[in-house]
Amino acid sequence: MGKNKLKLYSIIKTFPNVLEFPIEKDFLNKCFYLKSKWNKEFFKNENQIILELACGKGEYSIGMGEKYPKKNFIGIDIKGARICKGALISIEKNLKNICFLRTKIERIENVFSKNEIHEIWITFPDPQLKKPKKSKTFLSKNGTINLKTDNKVFYEFTLEMIKINKLNLIYHTENLYNTENLKFLEILKEIQTYYEKKFLKENKNIFYIKFSF
Ligand SMILES: C[S@@+](CC[C@H](N)C(=O)[O-])C[C@H]1O[C@@H](n2cnc3c(N)ncnc32)[C@H](O)[C@@H]1O
Repeated sequence: MGKNKLKLYSIIKTFPNVLEFPIEKDFLNKCFYLKSKWNKEFFKNENQIILELACGKGEYSIGMGEKYPKKNFIGIDIKGARICKGALISIEKNLKNICFLRTKIERIENVFSKNEIHEIWITFPDPQLKKPKKSKTFLSKNGTINLKTDNKVFYEFTLEMIKINKLNLIYHTENLYNTENLKFLEILKEIQTYYEKKFLKENKNIFYIKFSF
């Protein structure tokens, strides 16, 4: 890690809205101290929890956190420097319903318990990113998963997996910015992540899928 990143990393560790679950092998069979206690001990309310996986700078957590103060948001990413940006903005805006967790998505089952999460957002994941195998267990009944991507192969692969596994496909589009103006799509166009802006500038299509188990 470079000097600047190390410095930044030591600073964000002091932020009240940044948490960390170590990724070292020693922690493979350990549970995060807030597992099954996120509402009671961290947010101190009973509001629904929404996850943003591979959140980068956390644009979705911040955008939705502002729009829905009665919901809680957790952005997860492995890169501390990216999380730092979102954490700083949340502090500046005094958004108490948002926090960031630095860990690997692969460790997510160590972090959340059954039915603890109401909804998941995944925006522009790296293609090699492994999705949590058991998201069904920590996602509440009828909980939804939202995926935004610029990658047609990944979009088609996800649709195929939904079909094979007989999951409930709620909505999908190959070109989000060329769809009818359905109310529930507004938030998708309103909040654009760092990578989404980049891909839109390159005239790429933005694919979107919403499904549940
Ligand atoms: C292409 S960026 C997208 C970031 C953000 N969602 C956006 O749309 O701007 C992919 C993100 O995935 C994160 N990432 C990659 N592998 C990961 C893993 N195994 N666990 C957690 N985050 C991961 C990277 O650090 C990066 O921030």
